[in-house]
Amino acid sequence: MKPRFLLAALLVLSATGQAFAQESSDVADLVKASGCLSCHSVTEKIVGPAFKDVAAKYANDADAVSSLAQSVKNGSRGKWGRVPMPPHASISNEDLTTLTTWVMSHKP
Ligand code: HEC
Repeated sequence: MKPRFLLAALLVLSATGQAFAQESSDVADLVKASGCLSCHSVTEKIVGPAFKDVAAKYANDADAVSSLAQSVKNGSRGKWGRVPMPPHASISNEDLTTLTTWVMSHKP
């Protein structure tokens, strides 16, 4: 009886663990694959602003996810400093929304 119970508990644990890992690594992979991390990090300013600072700046902006998606797609200049962000025209609108939803998830 006991080993079976353990086995069942392990199965449930590994199934839920996988679901979580899957979700966060999909976004992480997209952020990496899109090249964002060569200029950004979540917590530190590199070339571009820290994503947590972006999320804080637009925390009260209901359209932040879509307006930031446009910024990433078309490029951005003058909002954070003198270095512009180049356009990312080849990223699909769906991926852009996923990326900026993730950026905005770092709100304080
Ligand atoms: C070549 C460096 C570089 C890359 C690559 C880059 N960024 Fe940026 N990013 C910047 C800079 C510099 C700024 C600040 C631009 C400004 O002052 O308007 C910025 C600003 C932003 C902003 C804030 C825009 C705003 O309207 O305030 C967001 C969101 C953002 N980046 C997300 C991304 C995402 C997502 C990616 C990956 C697809 C990415 N960035 C790739 C350099 C980069």
